[in-house]
This record gives sequence, structure tokens and C-alpha cells, in this order.
Amino acid sequence: MQTYQRLLLNNQAWVADKMSLRPDFFTRYSGGQKPEFLWIGCSDSRVPAEEVTGVEPGELFVHRNVANMVIHTDFNMLSVVQYAVEVLQVKHVIVCGHYGCGGVKTALSRMHLGLINKWLRHIKDVYRTHAAELEGIADEEQRIERLVELNVAEQVHNLAELSFVQLAWKRHRKPTLHGWIYDIHTGRLKTVTKMEPGHPIDPIYSYDFQED
Ligand code: CO
Repeated sequence: MQTYQRLLLNNQAWVADKMSLRPDFFTRYSGGQKPEFLWIGCSDSRVPAEEVTGVEPGELFVHRNVANMVIHTDFNMLSVVQYAVEVLQVKHVIVCGHYGCGGVKTALSRMHLGLINKWLRHIKDVYRTHAAELEGIADEEQRIERLVELNVAEQVHNLAELSFVQLAWKRHRKPTLHGWIYDIHTGRLKTVTKMEPGHPIDPIYSYDFQED
């Protein structure tokens, strides 16, 4: 058996399992989705969003990229976030980083990887912003872990700097923005930062909306 065939067989078993629990498992959401959460996570195979949070299909709107980045010129991520906050009107947006993140670790090195240099460059910017703190950490592993945390906090700030997030805050008093870390050694999630709707942000990133 080819390795990929295991996935197709697993799917058949999964369908049978879910149908035995509740016959309407698949038909109940066929009319549309109304998830409460947007998850922005790393592409890393060890951080499966639905599994680590114990949610079912229909509960999590998901975007994943290398090192869970919110980059203001990334139309893929921007489209996901805009749809989530304006159409789905999610209550919570979670940016979830993880210890052992290869993207963050590589960004700390001088390794040349072609195109991905451009992506990881944004993590190098986070490093430079927090260089004083990070360079005070002697242990390299601990320094990488701290950069994982700081990177998540920066991406939450990047979310708050999006005009359509600010507009959703004004119109709907949501979403709440969360920065979490997944510990690949223990399986546990922990909170790094939380930003309620209307949280004050640097005036240079704050927009005036002509609809009062
Ligand atoms: Co990662």
C-alpha cells in the first residue's frame, strides 16, 4: 500500500465513526458555516489546529503559513482575515505560534534559502525590535523560545493595525485578538497576549472612519 492510500482509508473510517456518533454529523453544516474563531497558525505538521483545540468541523476558520505571520502585504492572509471579521464576524482571532518553530529558528540564523528569506525577513525585524532583550538571553534555545513569544505578540499587533479589524471593533465590538503558544513538548497551549476590541494602538496605525 502506498503511504497516501492510508489517508484515504483513514477517511472512510473517520466518516463511519462520526456517522455512528450522530447521523447528521455532515449534513448539519451543509447549509453554511458560522465559526466563532479564526486561527492563524504555523504550517508545521506538529500543530494541527483542530486537534490541539478539540474542536469539530465548522468551529474553526483557519489560515496557516510559515511561522504564523500577519504580513500587511500578504493578500492571502488579508483575504482570510477580512472575510472572517466582516462576513463571518468571528468573536475571536487566535495567532498561535509554537516552540521549536523552524521558521523562527532559521530567521535567527544567517542561512540563505532564496525566496523564503523574504518571508523570514519579517521575523528578523521582530528580532531587531527586541534585540536588547533577546541578546541578554545566553542560552540559544531559550532565546529562540522567547523570539517565538515575541513574534506572536507582534503578529497580534499587526492584526490590530489592519483597518478592517479596527472597523469591526468599532461596528461590532469584536473580535478579541489572542496570542497563544503551543508547546510541542507537552501539547499544552499558553497565552502570551490578549487584546480586547478597542484596545488603544499607536496613533500612526489608527484609522479614522467617516461613518459617525
Ligand atoms: Co513553525
